[in-house]
Amino acid sequence: MHEKKTIFYRAYNEAMKIRVDLSSSTKDSSYDILIGSGIVNAKAGDEIINVFNSAGLKNRAFVITSETVSGLYRSLLNGFLENAGIKPVVLSLPDGEGTKSLKYLSYIYDELIKNRFERGDFIIAFGGGVIGDLSGFAAATYLRGINFIQIPTTLLADVDSSVGGKTGIDHPGGKNLIGAFYQPRCVIIDVDFLDTLSERELKNGFAEVIKYGAVIDNEFFIYLENNYEKILSRHKDSLMHIIEKSCAIKADVVNKDEKEAGLRSVLNFGHSLGHAIETLYNYETVKHGEAIAIGMVFASMLSEDLGLCTGETAGRVKTLIKNSGLPVKVPDFSPEEYINAMKLDKKVKGKLIKFVLIKDIGSFVFKELDFEYLMKFLKKIKDRRLDNL
Ligand code: NAD
Ligand code: GLY
Repeated sequence: MHEKKTIFYRAYNEAMKIRVDLSSSTKDSSYDILIGSGIVNAKAGDEIINVFNSAGLKNRAFVITSETVSGLYRSLLNGFLENAGIKPVVLSLPDGEGTKSLKYLSYIYDELIKNRFERGDFIIAFGGGVIGDLSGFAAATYLRGINFIQIPTTLLADVDSSVGGKTGIDHPGGKNLIGAFYQPRCVIIDVDFLDTLSERELKNGFAEVIKYGAVIDNEFFIYLENNYEKILSRHKDSLMHIIEKSCAIKADVVNKDEKEAGLRSVLNFGHSLGHAIETLYNYETVKHGEAIAIGMVFASMLSEDLGLCTGETAGRVKTLIKNSGLPVKVPDFSPEEYINAMKLDKKVKGKLIKFVLIKDIGSFVFKELDFEYLMKFLKKIKDRRLDNL
């Protein structure tokens, strides 16, 4: 595989710039992630304007956001864009995973057409992962693809969903079943947006941060074990650190395997059961990060059961998740319900499902597991209540 290194360096005063380098792909869709504090403000600096210019954003932008984010930051963003010479048209959508659906995708197309958005115009996703995934898919498909920019406002979107170009919507039958790989032209992460994020949403995003440490970076995992309280109390430097580190890890994986031909699947650690949980709850009640937190505990227990990791390793994953205030208990659906939901996962091939399992902290292995074994394991958990610490 083509060997590439993530380039990252300080630029634009205190902002950090990380390059997603896709230059060896069929189409070079490389771009920058800009990370800083206070970089989205009414006086968009020359540096930001340069980033917009190099992305090609000059005239009109169709901003898609959620009602909550709009209430908090609409005038800030409008001032920011207008100062950069960009005329925004803003569409606010309801909060919640239910918005990542065909209904709202269709509504976005209606509004884009009504406002006569053209190929040279841009979509800006301004919000959490729901807004980012939905807007990215609208951008990928409207007029066979128009440019888009991600300005994430949740921790989850900062560290995961705004980077890497996975876009899409949910289907009642399964999570993210409809979508496209479509890269943004740039990502602008301002940590200050996290000031207004609820504690639950902060923890929700922290689950994806734990994921990077658990299966990719042992040192980072130790940092999280030692600093989770500081991070969750919103200590700004610690938040900046985990965002930078997570984006660098994710960019590195995406640089090597943009379309998930192999390596990128590691980022699905915890997602096989996690997506099943979200589907079984009909995308309500449990949040994405919470579901994958449970999924990571489950995958670690499976790894131990298969003799791939020690009880100590599985225990450390579970303890960090639990200490961070995230759920660890597998919800009380029947093993049959879990198996049926998992059968709709994108990683299923016949009777097998590809699982990301843990070997040591910071290292992983892919294994195709059969549903019969998974059914037995789920029954064992249910019978012995192995899910309780
Ligand atoms: P979300 O987008 O639903 O946002 C959570 C809530 O926080 C919303 O109500 C939102 O309005 C509110 N909010 C956003 N920013 C805020 C702020 N600064 N202050 C106050 N409130 C704010 O949830 P999420 O966790 O950001 O994203 C979850 C979605 O991301 C899921 O659909 C998941 O599948 C997807 N995801 C995608 C990828 C990817 O690679 N594309 C990766 C991980 C997750
Ligand atoms: N969130 C998983 C990925 O981007 O591949």
